[in-house]
Amino acid sequence: MNVNPPIAMLAELTHRCPLSCPYCSNPVELTRREAELDTAQWADLFRQAADLGVLQLHLSGGEPVTRRDLVDLVIAAREAGLYTNLITSGIGLTEKRLRELDAAGLDHIQLSLQGTDADMADRIGGYRGGFARKMDVARWIGEIGFPLTLNAVLHRQNLHQLPRAIEMAVGMGARRIEVATVQFHGWALMNRDALMPTREQAREADAIVAEARARLKGVLVIDYVRADYHNDYPKRCMGGWGSTGINVAPDGLVLPCHAAQTIPGLVFDRVQDRPLREIWYEGSAFNAYRGTAWMPEPCASCERKTIDFGGCRCQAMALVGNASATDPTCIKSPHHAALQARADAFAAGTTEFTARAAAG
Ligand code: SF4
Ligand code: FES
Repeated sequence: MNVNPPIAMLAELTHRCPLSCPYCSNPVELTRREAELDTAQWADLFRQAADLGVLQLHLSGGEPVTRRDLVDLVIAAREAGLYTNLITSGIGLTEKRLRELDAAGLDHIQLSLQGTDADMADRIGGYRGGFARKMDVARWIGEIGFPLTLNAVLHRQNLHQLPRAIEMAVGMGARRIEVATVQFHGWALMNRDALMPTREQAREADAIVAEARARLKGVLVIDYVRADYHNDYPKRCMGGWGSTGINVAPDGLVLPCHAAQTIPGLVFDRVQDRPLREIWYEGSAFNAYRGTAWMPEPCASCERKTIDFGGCRCQAMALVGNASATDPTCIKSPHHAALQARADAFAAGTTEFTARAAAG
């Protein structure tokens, strides 16, 4: 099989985070601070990534701002020639630190939004005063002139705030908003009944996004991750397994996607043990679901198999206990009807959730 180089790397610098969002995509078993890669190890990895062909580096977490060496990491990434994007809740950023990051060459900031007012945002994020601080950070980002994407994670409890989130993105001068209906991995899977949107909400969100896209053409780009339990076809997860992206966990484990560790039997390499190039091209985990040869029916003979690559392997694992199965959010999956019924049941569930734990 002809394998192209990856385009993007998501570096989970740490699992530490001041917030405790119930939909966090970090694994339920969080990595402790002592196990995190150090500055030199990350810098070496960034050079290897650039040599391999990676163009964009997403600095993520947890909350990447909790890394004291964040400015040095940005400098290292820029020296390697990577485009750098900081994915942050904003908590822990000061104007001074933002200016240092600007001087270090940070290219772009993606700011998460837990809600459009303090009541919602601080309850979902589990951090009192977080919304007010985030608004300060958004203002400094605008003043410094960083290109900004607002990342609104939406679920049953805050989907009614979608129109306001779009207005806020325009008001902040963001170039893009990512309207991300929560995906059920990690902590979100545990909190599915508190977060699952209703069918009506999912339909309404489709209409709001369509209207806003037309109205704001040329002003704001709207990326939209739909509520896939309510869809007919699955998302193309990671652009296709092992095709465009690499995730690196805080301890140096190299993963084909952020939830890959939930798939039993996969063996992952560490950057400490093997060159990144070898991991990408020859690593067994990256080759497990690459391309289309691994597919069972109905995917194997489906006309959409190179459009969505059978959907999400981790979702197939979580929902039907088999990572090789067709993603059950697909209408052709034998599990699709049962999943839709379960989605309706979850959407009628409690609003109480388990907050994400703190990483040690
Ligand atoms: Fe995609 Fe497989 Fe469904 Fe076809 S059958 S649409 S390839 S998930
Ligand atoms: Fe792992 Fe979708 S999150 S393949």
